[in-house]
Amino acid sequence: KNIAIFASGAGSNAQKIIDHFSDSTIARVTLILCNKPDAGIFRIAEKENIPAILIEKDPFFRGDDYVQLLQREQIDLVVLAGFLWKVPANLVQAFANRIINIHPALLPKYGGKGMYGHFVHEAVINAGDAESGITIHYVNEKYDDGATILQERCTIVPGDTPETLAKKVQVLEHTWYPVIVERLLTNEAVSH
Ligand code: GRF
Repeated sequence: KNIAIFASGAGSNAQKIIDHFSDSTIARVTLILCNKPDAGIFRIAEKENIPAILIEKDPFFRGDDYVQLLQREQIDLVVLAGFLWKVPANLVQAFANRIINIHPALLPKYGGKGMYGHFVHEAVINAGDAESGITIHYVNEKYDDGATILQERCTIVPGDTPETLAKKVQVLEHTWYPVIVERLLTNEAVSH
């Protein structure tokens, strides 16, 4: 099975997924797409010898070119890992239930446009919540709105800052995202 990863930043989740499948027969990461030319993920792609594509805004929001690209590359699962743009409707439809995202909070709270990274953890702490966590979900036409696949929680203790919370949440991301990707691709293998 072929996995395409969309990212906008450092790509630490992408690295964990690449590592998880490095000697797997089930799947491998065969394509990386990113909308930020200076993002760290391009260094990861280079190091891992995985083709990486810089996403151009207008063609992406037209959607067709990228649908054809992903179909031509026989992509089975699209994994958003810190990708900050909304996925255009025709890409969502062409890959129905085959695009997933990870959000660093317990949706439906603290989701939506602009809620990413530091902003999310700050909002959770300012709200005085006793816990946060991750939500891995299917992607639909809205931000952070598709069906939940998995949620994992972590505690928030007095003195936690957005930085210390981000670290706890990142451990959950790196632990669970590769596991869920494998589970989705394995089940699919079983069901066909
Ligand atoms: C993570 O916080 C993830 O939950 C969110 O974007 C960030 C990606 O970080 N979707 P990285 O680029 O994988 O390090």
